[in-house]
Amino acid sequence: MMSSVFIAGTGRYLPSQVVTNKDLAKYVDTSDEWIVQRTGIHERRFSTGEPNWYMGVQAAKQAIENAGVAPEEIDIIISSCITPDYFYPTVACSIQDELGAVNAFCWNLGAACSGFVYALDVARGYLATGSAKTILIVCAENMSKSLDFDDRSTCVLFGDGAGAAVVKKGEGLYGSRMASDGKTGAALLAPALLGVNTPFAYDKDNPKYNKYAPTKGNYMTMDGRAVYRFTAHAIPNTVSGACERAGIAVDELDWLIPHQANLRIIEKASERMHFPMEKIYVNIDRFANTSCASVPICLSEMNDQGKLKRGMKIALAGFGGGLTSGAVVIEW
Ligand code: COA
Repeated sequence: MMSSVFIAGTGRYLPSQVVTNKDLAKYVDTSDEWIVQRTGIHERRFSTGEPNWYMGVQAAKQAIENAGVAPEEIDIIISSCITPDYFYPTVACSIQDELGAVNAFCWNLGAACSGFVYALDVARGYLATGSAKTILIVCAENMSKSLDFDDRSTCVLFGDGAGAAVVKKGEGLYGSRMASDGKTGAALLAPALLGVNTPFAYDKDNPKYNKYAPTKGNYMTMDGRAVYRFTAHAIPNTVSGACERAGIAVDELDWLIPHQANLRIIEKASERMHFPMEKIYVNIDRFANTSCASVPICLSEMNDQGKLKRGMKIALAGFGGGLTSGAVVIEW
C-alpha cells in the first residue's frame, strides 16, 4: 500500500467585508459585465485590517478542532504566504504562538498560488518517513495589500482569505506532479525588499543585476495573457501526471479542486481533460483569487457541506507565480 496523506481536518477564514464588482468600478475604470464575462468573479472579500497571521490563526483553529487534535500534538506547521506581515517571524511561527503548538517546528514555503499543493507534497514526505505524525498547513493571503488600484487588469482578480488543513499519514492512493517554469517568471511579479541602499552598494544600478523590469513600488504586476497561456496546460498536465503516478485514470476522480484564478481557465481545463464541470469545485464567483488559500478554502467548504466522503478520489491543483504548478491526487 502506498504511503499517502490523510486530511484529518479543514478550516477557513474569510474577512466579512464583501466587495462587489460594482464597488470596484467606483475606483477603477471597469464594469461588472467585463469582470464576470472574463473571469467569472462577482465579488471578493477584502481585509478591513486583519493581518495574515490573524486570518491564518482563525482558519487553523477550525482545522485542528475539525481534526480533533490538541495544539501540542502538532509536529510541524507549514505556512504558505506571499503577502506576509513580516519576513520573520514567519506566519507559521506567529500561528504556533497563538495556538500554543509548542512542540511544532514552523516555516514558510514560497510557491505562490501553488503553495497548498506543494506543502501537501512536502508534508507527505515527513509523514512517510515517520519524522512527523501531525502537520498543520496554513495558507493565508492579504492579496489586497499587493494590488495597485490604478491597474484594472490585476486589482479586480484577487481577494483575501485563509485556509488550513491538518494532515496525517494515510494509506490510500497518492500521486503528485509538480512543475516550474522560471523562464516565464516575469509574467507574475511582486518585489520584496526594495533594493540595496547602503553606501557600500555603489554598483547597485548595474543593469546586469536587473533580473526583471522595475515595477511600481511593492505592487504586483502581471502579463495576463502569458499567465493565461501557461495555465491552459498547467491543470491538465499536472492532474493527468498525478493521476498516472497514483495509478488511476483522470475519469476515476470524484472531484477536481483547482486553484481559483479564473472560471475560464477552469472551464478550459475541463474541456481539455474531458472532465465534467459538475465534478469540479468552483467558488471563484464569491471569493476571487485568494492565491494559495483558494484550494484549502474550497476543501473546507466542501467538507462542511458534506460533499467529500471518505474513500473518494480527489485531485487538488495549483498554479501561479514562479511560474509554478502542481497537482496531488489523494483519497479523502
Ligand atoms: N475592466 C475593463 N477592461 C479591462 C479590465 C477591467 N478590469 N482589465 C483589462 N481590460 C481591458 C484591457 O485594457 C484591454 O483593453 P484594450 O483592448 O483596449 O487594450 C481589454 O480589456 C482586453 O484585455 P486582455 O488582456 O486581452 O483581456 P483578456 O481577455 O486576456 O482577459 C485576464 C484578461 C487578466 C482576465 C486574462 O488574461 C487572465 O485571466 N489571465 C490569467 C490571470 C491569472 O489567472 N492570474 C493569476 C494566476 S495565479
